[in-house]
Amino acid sequence: MSLSRGKTLVTEGYGLQQCDLPPFEEGRIDPREWFAAPGRPLEIEIGSGKGTFLVQEAPLRPAVNYLGIEKSMDFYRYAADRVRRRELDNVRLLRADAAEFLRFWCGDGVAAVVHLYFADPWPKKRHHKRRIIQDRVLGDLHRILGPAGELRLVTDHEELWAWYEQCARRHAHLFQERPFNPPESAAPGEIVGSNFERKYRREGRPFFGMTLVRRHGDT
Ligand SMILES: C[S@@+](CC[C@H](N)C(=O)[O-])C[C@H]1O[C@@H](n2cnc3c(N)ncnc32)[C@H](O)[C@@H]1O
Repeated sequence: MSLSRGKTLVTEGYGLQQCDLPPFEEGRIDPREWFAAPGRPLEIEIGSGKGTFLVQEAPLRPAVNYLGIEKSMDFYRYAADRVRRRELDNVRLLRADAAEFLRFWCGDGVAAVVHLYFADPWPKKRHHKRRIIQDRVLGDLHRILGPAGELRLVTDHEELWAWYEQCARRHAHLFQERPFNPPESAAPGEIVGSNFERKYRREGRPFFGMTLVRRHGDT
């Protein structure tokens, strides 16, 4: 059974796909222009899954635009339909590989915050290259974040957490590490309040979070 459980999912007006983007050879694009009010600060969630963080956080912060980037077609359609039914004009979903979108399409300095919660850990060594956070991606994130922009990371996976800490140390010239503060929409006792957090909390797993604040300077 797919995520839709037989319901018709409509993405129109709220979702777009990597295949609909202009060829990247034509130059970088500014995703802020996809919103009704493009002048608002943009926050990007990588791997937005069912869109729980977005549908909780966006109504509380209507002066901020949120872009969820999700690779899976099923999750993208489910989340975009959820956002459409709630008429959240400050949310858009992009079905894309986030690393590719950031590297090849996304313009400089467009985002105030990038959220990455409970990314797939890819525990086998030969799969580490599939992890979202890589040295090259941190360089791309530094480019697409505005001044003092933030990368917010949370995971339950100790080995992925160690990977994040090592990446952060190697890029201390680009980002300053700070403690993670829960977003406004997190319920008391939650770190983010995403779907995977709730699932893993029931399993008693530990959670780790950090905020990397963009330093001024070149990659
Ligand atoms: C473990 S789930 C976490 C979902 C959500 N962040 C949460 O906390 O409930 C990881 C999500 O990231 C998506 N994902 C994995 N790699 C991705 C990529 N390169 N670009 C965009 N989404 C990706 C997966 O399809 C999946 O929906």
